[in-house]
Amino acid sequence: MKIQSIKGMNDLLPSDTKNWRQIENLLHNFFTIHGYGEIRTPIVEKSDLFNRVIGESTDIVNKEMYSWQDQNEEQIALRPELTAPAVRAYIEHNLDKLNKVSKLYYIGPAFRRERPQKGRQRQFYQYGVESIGSEHPEQDAEIISMAYNIFLMLGIDDLDLVINSVGSSNTKKKYEEILKQYLSNYIDQLSDTSKDRYNKNPLRILDSKSAQEQEIIKNAPSILECLNSEELEHFNDTQKFLDNLNIPYTIDNRLVRGLDYYTLTTFEIRSGKLGSQNALCGGGRYNNLIEQLGGKSIPSIGFAAGMERLMLALDFNKEQGIHLDVFIISIGKKAITNSLKICDKLRNQLGIYVRMDFSRSSFKSQMRQANKLNAEYVIILGEEEIKRKVGIIKTMSTGEQFEAPLDTIHKHFDIEKSKNDK
Ligand code: HAM
Repeated sequence: MKIQSIKGMNDLLPSDTKNWRQIENLLHNFFTIHGYGEIRTPIVEKSDLFNRVIGESTDIVNKEMYSWQDQNEEQIALRPELTAPAVRAYIEHNLDKLNKVSKLYYIGPAFRRERPQKGRQRQFYQYGVESIGSEHPEQDAEIISMAYNIFLMLGIDDLDLVINSVGSSNTKKKYEEILKQYLSNYIDQLSDTSKDRYNKNPLRILDSKSAQEQEIIKNAPSILECLNSEELEHFNDTQKFLDNLNIPYTIDNRLVRGLDYYTLTTFEIRSGKLGSQNALCGGGRYNNLIEQLGGKSIPSIGFAAGMERLMLALDFNKEQGIHLDVFIISIGKKAITNSLKICDKLRNQLGIYVRMDFSRSSFKSQMRQANKLNAEYVIILGEEEIKRKVGIIKTMSTGEQFEAPLDTIHKHFDIEKSKNDK
């Protein structure tokens, strides 16, 4: 029986990775010019990190985390997100001593045992940033605008940015009681999951997708009404900074997000292009997290976005953009020997993207390969040409062709290259 990949964990083939690398390069550049430095943390961490950071009553920790006991009886887990590891590393390496505000970014895989569907995998890639050290709303605005501008930069304009403030942990607690009071009138109409959440994590009920529960939640008291004057000022200032940057948003007072660590600002960017898994990215402030993990009290904010969802929204045509400088068609062993040598010279001396045939197929089929790869030039080395120690250079767009001596044929491309470089 064939062994297949694990459900929800997908291979990225060369036709995918080409586009992924292009986007990753853009992201590295985008984050660098915003003053963020890359952090790479292990894929496996102690389970306790996520239990404490994300929250034991969240779906991510409770149901979706891949966690097991190591040989030394330590419970370890595949990371379900990258904020907790980044914060752990920040504390472990005393990064607070280096800068007042530490700006980190990451691109890497995360794992959640969710039900796979379009835009939802069990292994997925996240890119994201964490800014650790600033409590001020200008930092919130920078983070939100960065998240938004990446999509704009990539030409995705069907965007819906939603923001909210969940206040401090005291405000959250106060609101939890108010919400529970309200929901107690509808307890019989809630699903089993929501009934369970009512006791363990009532704010999560606001995320319910059920139409009946949405009706109930619609009239629930708003968390924004619980914010104290300082929290309200922070939220208002964040909005003013976003207005100033011309970032369009709507306020949704039910946006609490599925991780427990958020305080004050929360946000999500959705796209109409994605179907039911429409969240391109999500983030928010987590002012208590560093202290909770044994560090100092340091306010922070960040976001993460799913690479697969970004690629879906971009709707790449896999073949789009393939471009080859030269394809060498060779017929017969002697021609192959020459092809290998010419490939070597073109690549090593001129840095030209060149390919040759490795299937010893017919002239016609090799020409088809050249066309498929969108080659700009083809070098033809048939038996006849080899006898005469020449090769034919054909410009694919015009069909023009001429002969050149075999031992200096690569030099023609040096001239072409310097023309293009000017
Ligand atoms: P999150 O909302 O759980 O937040 O995930 C962020 C993004 O990762 C989502 O908006 C989505 O694009 C993508 N994503 C999540 N789960 C999956 C999945 N199963 N398959 C495909 N894509 C997925 C966080 O992870 C927080 N750490 C964000 C953050 C950073 N908050 C502060 N800093």
